[in-house]
Amino acid sequence: MSGVGRAWGKVILLGEHAVVYGVPAIAVGIDRGARAEPSPISAGPSELFVRGWGIEAKDVEAKAGDEPSVARAFRALAEITRDRRRARGEAELSPVAISAAADLPPGGGLGCSAALGVAVARALDPSADSEEIALRAGAWEQVFHGNPSGVDAAVSAAGGCVYFERGKPIERVAMREPLLLCVGNTGVASSTKTMVESVARLRARRPEVCEKSFEGIRSLVRNARLAVEAGDAVGLGRLMDLNQMLLSGLFVSTEEIEAMCSLARSAGALGAKLTGAGGGGSVVALVPDPAVAERVLFAWEKEGYSSFFARAFAPAEGAQPSATPGSAP
Ligand code: MEV
Repeated sequence: MSGVGRAWGKVILLGEHAVVYGVPAIAVGIDRGARAEPSPISAGPSELFVRGWGIEAKDVEAKAGDEPSVARAFRALAEITRDRRRARGEAELSPVAISAAADLPPGGGLGCSAALGVAVARALDPSADSEEIALRAGAWEQVFHGNPSGVDAAVSAAGGCVYFERGKPIERVAMREPLLLCVGNTGVASSTKTMVESVARLRARRPEVCEKSFEGIRSLVRNARLAVEAGDAVGLGRLMDLNQMLLSGLFVSTEEIEAMCSLARSAGALGAKLTGAGGGGSVVALVPDPAVAERVLFAWEKEGYSSFFARAFAPAEGAQPSATPGSAP
């Protein structure tokens, strides 16, 4: 059906947390994400149903009491969609009932909330381009994350490999070779908002420590971009390992994350680190070939960590992910 909004899941290769403070990050879209299907309704406010979460929301102010975050996020998204269209002299959109779902673990560091926001933003307004959709999804993300840098929504809308700096248009990074990634879940859900707040507290207490880490991450990200462009997977893996060390110094790593990184490296990964906010969530390992990927996935699964293989590649202009939420990888 036309008008179906799709969004990529995201894996941050390097730069999480520092990106909130203006350091660039480099991230890739993965072929798992979210999907939102709009159906026209004759009258009344637009509605959203998130399958798998059993959450329904309407584009109207709640009468009283607590409102689920998804409902507030949906209203914020509908509002910014209206405002931005009005400012451009575009016609009012007809109301729709949207059925949405994500095939990413919530709290898993893979951009589940941003992917849903992007897919729903597209379902509300299929005519908007990726940059505009990412901006609108930012209003949705703000409800969940308080102070999002925007990297999750930007990658979720664009796919491919993206060099992102807060407040600037994204830069696409030309990938010489597809990147072969293993993504494993620690089994511990984490909240991006909580982890971003914990780094903010550390920065308030020890500004010099954080600034040094952020500057280190800035140069790692710069080199990582060159490594991706040159197809230097070995170099990229080393930079990911160094980024993991700096993230540990910001206290966003955990025992499970460190254990998973060690397992991946011992199985032949070129580099491994947490991806996303840390404190649980997911680990990403860069591998040189599918045989090593098998070994990494096996090592993780043996210890009870669920995982999957992902190939990150540059999508064709305007392409959207093919995965159907709920289907096998
Ligand atoms: C979360 O996926 C990435 C963080 O850097 C937060 C953000 O950029 O908004 C931790």
